[in-house]
Amino acid sequence: MTETHANSKKLFVKTYGCQMNVYDSACMSDALAPHGYETTLDMAQADLVLLNTCHIREKASEKVFSELGRLKELQGKRRAMGGDMLIGVAGCVAQAEGEEIARRAPVVDIVFGPQAYHKLPEMLARAEAQRHLHPALKTPIIDTDFPEEDKFEHLPAARKEITIKRGLTAFLTVQEGCDKFCSFCVVPYTRGVEVSRPVAQILAEARGLVDAGVKEITLLGQNVNAYHGLDATGRSISLGELAYLLAEIKGLERLRYTTSHPRDMDDALIAAHRDLDILMPYLHLPVQSGSDSILKTMNRRHTAAEYMAIIERIKAARSDMALSGDFIVGFPGETDADFEDTLRIIADVGYASAYSFKYSTRPGTPGANLGDQVPEDVKNERLWRLQDLVNAQTTAFHQSCVGKTMPVLIERPGRMQGQVGGRSPYLQAVHLDGLPDLIGAIHQVKIIGISTNSLVGWLKAAVAV
Ligand code: SAH
Ligand code: SF4
Ligand code: F3S
Repeated sequence: MTETHANSKKLFVKTYGCQMNVYDSACMSDALAPHGYETTLDMAQADLVLLNTCHIREKASEKVFSELGRLKELQGKRRAMGGDMLIGVAGCVAQAEGEEIARRAPVVDIVFGPQAYHKLPEMLARAEAQRHLHPALKTPIIDTDFPEEDKFEHLPAARKEITIKRGLTAFLTVQEGCDKFCSFCVVPYTRGVEVSRPVAQILAEARGLVDAGVKEITLLGQNVNAYHGLDATGRSISLGELAYLLAEIKGLERLRYTTSHPRDMDDALIAAHRDLDILMPYLHLPVQSGSDSILKTMNRRHTAAEYMAIIERIKAARSDMALSGDFIVGFPGETDADFEDTLRIIADVGYASAYSFKYSTRPGTPGANLGDQVPEDVKNERLWRLQDLVNAQTTAFHQSCVGKTMPVLIERPGRMQGQVGGRSPYLQAVHLDGLPDLIGAIHQVKIIGISTNSLVGWLKAAVAV
């Protein structure tokens, strides 16, 4: 039952990293709402600030400590005015460096990993109880366990009670953790082993989101296509099979999923792309490198040719599939020839978009023990060349849409007065002239031009005759 609180408290959550952190932040807000916390967009007004952190690259981790310095000042100001501010660090940095955070930043009241946020109300109660103690007398509250119990079992019920308007699109975590152990990556250590949520739990959460007005759901997992949740009969269901079940939910109009691993792109999932209109023709399928020897050291467990064969199978099932990818440049040992292989695979695939990163050594991963580091200036040059190629491909893809009519989910007012904005099936931003009453539905929009990183659309019905 939801309690009512005379004095509601303000919560500010700052999210770093991937979409799963965005989802987790929403879950934290949901878990705290019954305890009187409402979210604020103004950090200075917050009684509780949570930093939901990312450990994927060195830069991402460093941000946490600089933000904590700023928070210490804000906390001081609130205290000077008779108020207070509790500070929590959540997410993957908390998981990886929990003890160090508590040691380096005594301003932090609680530290908890991605598997512990359902225990947040209880941790907060403990923090409240010692908030007036001298910092030296406080016991650090750190929870970085990987518990047996399923945190999701605590959450959907809370989420269902929440009446906050979700908007038209929502994330839904179906799978978490990773067993792949790519040699550069911290995720298997920060998120733990691969776990899939049961089918019934996912369907219930999806129905709840649709009831709240959501039209498009993006299924999330660090390895989303390795999903293998159990149905009511105890049978293991793949992501492809799950897509068919979700397609039956009335009112759900679009389904996406991310991030997939090439090795888990199975026949059922490819068939779902052929059969289900609801499954959007856009696939994020990172390859990281086009060089077989680098792929091997990265422990990706497939070759460049195998990746290309998967792309061909997908395109045979859904010819208009737009692809996106992730790339790492400057992995230890990457030669000029290896890098040329990466440029070649990009040229062969033709990406609609791609994310690219300079290799960042992560302590504790096998990659950290490899010699033959690529110098920074070489990494910079390779990143620049790769991004140049990908940007040209993105522009070419946008350009190829001009003249076509496509369904656009109109989500929000546009940047300019008299405009609305939405997304194409291929996840491109689309802007067009139109009144706000278009928002909330999918409209057939003619693409008439491109602007920086988006498409310009035209809707017959929106023009007064
Ligand atoms: N599960 C996804 C990706 C998770 S991390 C997958 O299997 O592809 C998101 C991206 O960050 C990765 O695809 C990779 O390109 C990049 N990344 C991960 N670790 C990195 C590191 N140590 N240095 C640079 N980029 C990294
Ligand atoms: Fe990291 Fe590799 Fe797992 Fe992706 S598949 S999360 S890159 S270990
Ligand atoms: Fe970052 Fe953790 Fe996501 S390390 S990318 S927040 S899984």
